[in-house]
Amino acid sequence: MKIAIIKERRNGENRVSMSPQVAANLIKMGFEVWVESDAGFGAHFSNNQYSEAGVLIKSLNELKDADVFVQINPPSPEIIGAIPDGKIWISSVYHRSNTELTETLNAKKWTVLSLDAIPRISRAQSMDVLSSQANLAGYRAVIEGAYHLDKIFPLLMTAAGTVTPAKVLIFGVGVAGLQAIATAKRLGAVVEATDVRPETKEQVQSLGGKFIEVKGIEVGSEGGYAKEASEEYRKAQRDAVNKSLAQADLVITTALVPGRKAPILIDDEQLSLMKSGSIVIDMAAEQGGNCSQTKPHEIHVVNGVKIIGSVNLPSELSANASELFARNIWELLKLIGPKGEIILDRNDEIVQGCLISHQGELLLKN
Ligand code: NAI
Repeated sequence: MKIAIIKERRNGENRVSMSPQVAANLIKMGFEVWVESDAGFGAHFSNNQYSEAGVLIKSLNELKDADVFVQINPPSPEIIGAIPDGKIWISSVYHRSNTELTETLNAKKWTVLSLDAIPRISRAQSMDVLSSQANLAGYRAVIEGAYHLDKIFPLLMTAAGTVTPAKVLIFGVGVAGLQAIATAKRLGAVVEATDVRPETKEQVQSLGGKFIEVKGIEVGSEGGYAKEASEEYRKAQRDAVNKSLAQADLVITTALVPGRKAPILIDDEQLSLMKSGSIVIDMAAEQGGNCSQTKPHEIHVVNGVKIIGSVNLPSELSANASELFARNIWELLKLIGPKGEIILDRNDEIVQGCLISHQGELLLKN
């Protein structure tokens, strides 16, 4: 089968779904690999590097004869129009919030494997693009926060006096939150974090952070993901975090609830408690934001607090992000096409999870 690597159309996207190295592995597995010219430009993979790996460089028009199409982001209208019916499409589709797009792809009888729907089970960890990208995003959020902060992170004892370490507060201890804690600790900050899932307490502590517990109320989780928090929980959370919020130099918010708008965790009243010069990096900006004043793609200052509506942080680390994404794809292809031909085992839990459209049949999950 022929695999086509499509150049990303999303604005500001620097990543590519396949590295030359992984492409070479796929060729060894029996696939033919084609790449759209300059697809790797933003991740510093040249057409030459792909050619040397055995990949054929093609225009979008020439790619349409491929069997399998791979991308990071959901397909744009231009790509949907360019690729014929009945093909295999692999990318994140976010079908829960993109129902119209999913129906369009299904109407084209595409077999769609949506990477964001791969189940969070141990066997699928190596294919988990959400984790590989969130991990890098968590790192990048701290670096960006450190850059915008008018203070240093570590304790500094000098002849002119002592500088106390920066205080970092993290909302949401998933993959991104854990990496943010680890990165902020490495830079010397004092770190606190909170999450609705009580099991994260131990994880925060193991990284040297302090867990802020919201006592007396359970939110619970479903399939490893947080459920939506009640208003009662929200009030208790406010009481538990407000003291830390008032002292924080950098706040990173990462809280998401699958298929829903991101919960507001810092409202206007809480913002007014924060110090002038402090920074909020809102990693949930694209899903509505965890801070009431977040504007996606923008830096917005309210009472001296800089609120950064971060969108697509993994793209800022395009080299690593593309390499890890490519390895995730490779692991998936080893499962569904170990001999260079994709054969879907509909009884496999991973295939069941991410197959959202199959030859005209919509297989939507909640
Ligand atoms: P996410 O990006 O969906 O959410 C980030 C964090 O925000 C989560 O920890 C969530 O509990 C928290 N959150 C949601 N609402 C909140 C609120 N109102 N207040 C405070 N915190 C709130 O999470 P991510 O990183 O995608 O991880 C989701 C789950 O999947 C986790 O349990 C993680 O451990 C698990 N996981 C499992 C894997 C596997 O076994 N293959 C791989 C990666 C993650």
